[in-house]
Amino acid sequence: MKALKLLVFVRRKNLMSKRFFPILSLLLVLCCSLSFAAQTKSVDAEGHQWWQHAVFYEIYPRSYADSNNDGVGDLKGITSRMAYLHDLGVDAIWISPCFPSPQVDFGYDVSDYENIDPMYGTLADFDQMVAEGKNHHVSIILDFVVNHTSDQHAWFLDSRSSRTAPHRDWYIWRDGKGPGQPPNNWISTFGGSAWKFDPTTNQYYYHYFYAAQPDLNWRNPAVEKAMLDTTRWWYKRGVSGFRLDAVDTMFEDSALHDNRVLEGKNSQGDPNTDEKYNKKLPEMHVVLQKLRTVADEAGAVLIGETWTSNIDELKEYYGPNGNELQMPMDFMFTGVNKLSPPEFRRQIAQVDTAGGWPVFVISNHDIVRSYNRYGDGKNNDAIAKLMGAFYLTLRGTPIMYYGEEIGMENNDPKRKEDVKDPIGRTGWPQEIGRDGERTPMQWNTGVNAGFSKKEPWLPVPPSYKTHNVATESKDPNSVFSMYKKVLALRHTNEALLEGNYTALNEDDANVMSYLRSYKGKAVLVALNMSSSPQKVKFDLTGLGFRFHQLAPLVTTSQTSAKGLEVTLEPFGVFIGDVKNLDLPGVVVDRY
Ligand code: GLC
Repeated sequence: MKALKLLVFVRRKNLMSKRFFPILSLLLVLCCSLSFAAQTKSVDAEGHQWWQHAVFYEIYPRSYADSNNDGVGDLKGITSRMAYLHDLGVDAIWISPCFPSPQVDFGYDVSDYENIDPMYGTLADFDQMVAEGKNHHVSIILDFVVNHTSDQHAWFLDSRSSRTAPHRDWYIWRDGKGPGQPPNNWISTFGGSAWKFDPTTNQYYYHYFYAAQPDLNWRNPAVEKAMLDTTRWWYKRGVSGFRLDAVDTMFEDSALHDNRVLEGKNSQGDPNTDEKYNKKLPEMHVVLQKLRTVADEAGAVLIGETWTSNIDELKEYYGPNGNELQMPMDFMFTGVNKLSPPEFRRQIAQVDTAGGWPVFVISNHDIVRSYNRYGDGKNNDAIAKLMGAFYLTLRGTPIMYYGEEIGMENNDPKRKEDVKDPIGRTGWPQEIGRDGERTPMQWNTGVNAGFSKKEPWLPVPPSYKTHNVATESKDPNSVFSMYKKVLALRHTNEALLEGNYTALNEDDANVMSYLRSYKGKAVLVALNMSSSPQKVKFDLTGLGFRFHQLAPLVTTSQTSAKGLEVTLEPFGVFIGDVKNLDLPGVVVDRY
């Protein structure tokens, strides 16, 4: 842009002569390529890329902001909140699927990958959202549903039409074992057999999720090409990356071996199986590497929905040469469902040394909100502040979930007839579905919490009266204020941006403490994960900090520090600078 203006200026001033033209043109090309390189490859002195310093924020578009008052959120609504997101300290938003869809799984059943569902707006609204995002330094990440399409996608409609249809082999079709018998014993995670008989062609098709979500056949190169091209199409439209949905179910054993049946039943009443032959097949890594190659061409980031049960599995998603997902989500962290310093320490230590960049998540649209999972029912606000101060100060990229910043709680349905999420209807009462964590964003104390003038698609919980953006922004002690302060610090403090993570006082079962240090600077975080007051003392000599004391940066109201000792109220938060006493201007408080 700047280079173009220069050329126009030169022209206007008639400075252009035959002699200067080639030199100027060369300069112009140089400027352009340099600025492109800066946009796509910008790394800081530590080699960190933009997404390593960014704070991500998941938006469930049905529930964020409703611009046309039809009870369902939309893209214009999100666009209108870009300033809010920027002020909060969000750098990138991951929007759950907003593509055309019959909405059986609320968008995770895509019927056209290269368009916007009319319920959410148009492609023009999308472009407007990207532009407004740029104005506010908020990048857009889309949700790419790679494992399956909707049964209403044109590919599947063609595929099911005849055994010789051009798209037949884009999905997984097989004969049954005998009359009324599916090809094998694979179970859909959403209930029942994973095979559905289709009378048109007398074969079964495979669906890991709902029957309305047939699995794509990634062994077919045409599928691979179409999907890679889809990502290219969105990158050209200004998307900065994708969250890849359900990556571990992309491939299945071609020989269709039965899975081993384990003890017990799942929440849908089906037998548990080991899923050896339809989950986490190694072929998926080859595809992830190809998706990464395309992402790299666009300077984009890939986040993965990577449910893993051990660190070795998580490590694999980074790729053998760091050539798969830059950001596989660490869900093992969400598995620590209680305030347990020893368990958090163990978990962080594993991920911190895994070789890839850690990605921390505490809530999303598939799991009960962190406010309820960690809350004890009495001190939920204090605990919500503590959890925010915790994962936003770790080494790694955090992905927030909308509403977490105001302490939004789950609003679970009380009766089966109120349930919208199909797995809640089929699994009731063992499985009540995911409606509770997907309710409308609470903006203010107005009607429907300021989300919409019309009754929203899911009910707002009564707590919106106290837990909303407008009210909490005025309260310096709110969950919202804690999130804002910590996010602001995270963006400016070098030790938090670049520093190592070192666990401190590892025997302490109540207080989770750690140091983030970088080139002689350090931030110490101490979090009281217990309901009683705590006093903790630190010895940092072994870490190169001999004559130092703590200076508070962000703390809860009753928490203080003296020298290298911190006094914490129940669930108190202390984030402080480790100050060198030998520096001029520092008040010495040796003891
Ligand atoms: C992922 C999504 C979930 C969806 C499922 C099927 O797990 O996060 O919401 O139901 O994939 O697409």
